[in-house]
Amino acid sequence: MPKTLTTLTETRGGKACAAAARRTTRAWCAAALAGGWLFAAAPLFAAEDAVYALGKKLFSSVTPPCAICHTLRDANAEGMIGPVLDEIKPDEARVAKALRGGIGSMPSFGGSLKAEEIDALARYVARASGGAEKSR
Ligand code: HEC
Repeated sequence: MPKTLTTLTETRGGKACAAAARRTTRAWCAAALAGGWLFAAAPLFAAEDAVYALGKKLFSSVTPPCAICHTLRDANAEGMIGPVLDEIKPDEARVAKALRGGIGSMPSFGGSLKAEEIDALARYVARASGGAEKSR
């Protein structure tokens, strides 16, 4: 953990603990210290989650929907025309490339989606299929 984050965590946790000690709720105090880094990093996760959520929504709502051609467990999609995304586990770059240019009989989405929407779909498909982990 970066030093600034650790310090921030201790400061926040410490204050929470002082308050908790007054109310003698020590269990909550311990939890606050242990989970302190989560509070500190919360704004970062919130921005990430918004991109992921947009991608998840687009997966079923773009035209034509990815879901009619692809299987992706997280999206309850069972399409059988294209490869099973849970199996090929594409990383973000691979998804974005397929969307921008199309591939084989998959249409291009480059003309119908904004760059942010392509990025969101890439983020979602990579992470939901396990491809994000693969590329690390
Ligand atoms: C009309 C059916 C169809 C739709 C709709 C569709 N795909 Fe595909 N997709 C395919 C087919 C077929 C392939 C395999 C193409 C090939 O390799 O020749 C493919 C391949 C892919 C690949 C793998 C690319 C690679 O490099 O191998 C990804 C990732 C992908 N699609 C994601 C998506 C996403 C995300 C959407 C929705 C925005 C989507 N697809 C919509 C049919 C479709």
